[in-house]
Amino acid sequence: MQVAKTIAEMRELRRHLSGSVGLVPTMGYLHKGHLALVKQASAENSTVVVSIFVNPTQFGPSEDFRTYPRDLNRDLKLLEKEKTDIVFMPSDEEMYPPGFSSWVDVEKVTERLEGESRPGHFRGVATVCTKLFNIVQPNKAYFGQKDAQQAAVMKRMVADLNMNLKIVTVPTVRESDGLAMSSRNTYLNAEERQAATVLFRALSLARQLWQDGEKDADKIRQQMTLLIKKESLAQIDYVSITDADTLEELKTISCPALASLAVKIGKVRLIDNVILE
Ligand code: PAF
Repeated sequence: MQVAKTIAEMRELRRHLSGSVGLVPTMGYLHKGHLALVKQASAENSTVVVSIFVNPTQFGPSEDFRTYPRDLNRDLKLLEKEKTDIVFMPSDEEMYPPGFSSWVDVEKVTERLEGESRPGHFRGVATVCTKLFNIVQPNKAYFGQKDAQQAAVMKRMVADLNMNLKIVTVPTVRESDGLAMSSRNTYLNAEERQAATVLFRALSLARQLWQDGEKDADKIRQQMTLLIKKESLAQIDYVSITDADTLEELKTISCPALASLAVKIGKVRLIDNVILE
């Protein structure tokens, strides 16, 4: 496994690669969800590049950029085991040198849900991913279904800006009780960890109601909301049922739809979703 710490080093390694290159962009503190992305990238490409960069521009001023969990040594060991070919881990100064002033803004699909709750978040994600795509020049880039809106933003951006790569979405990896894997789960204490299962319980309820024939999206949102409100540590940010591609909120469910939610458990904000199809 080779490690590139600068853009020049990464470009030099890329110059010698032939065959397809799969990029897995991450912010490190890797878990099984990330490793599932690496496995799929490995199965589909000649070379796998994993980037580790905690991107400051996608965090709001009151968010957890400074305290975001980091453990580079552990990440490198895990990636070595997965037979990753190249790890790209640039510094903040390398990615955002003094005078940096160009941004990528994807409209519409970023306006609601995470975009509404976290102003500027997707501008930071779109900008850093554009930079990573320009530097690594992958044929495919891999994103987790847990961040469904992020994947939708990537697909829109790549199509709109004629970027020469395919965005691949990989299913969410869950703990045995359904909690979606996330680096932020480490913030939860034991009681909060237990309460956090309410996200998956609400999504499972949505899926069950829909499978039983309920097509009225409001009724499903109401039932999900009632279930979450029973959990005293949970505070709802949003409960949503949208078109899976446009992320427009639905009145009547037409396939495929995305049931998604953001819920604070204590101070920890968690997101999750399921596709109704
Ligand atoms: O999903 C993430 O970890 C980040 O948003 C990403 C895609 C690595 C961009 O910083």
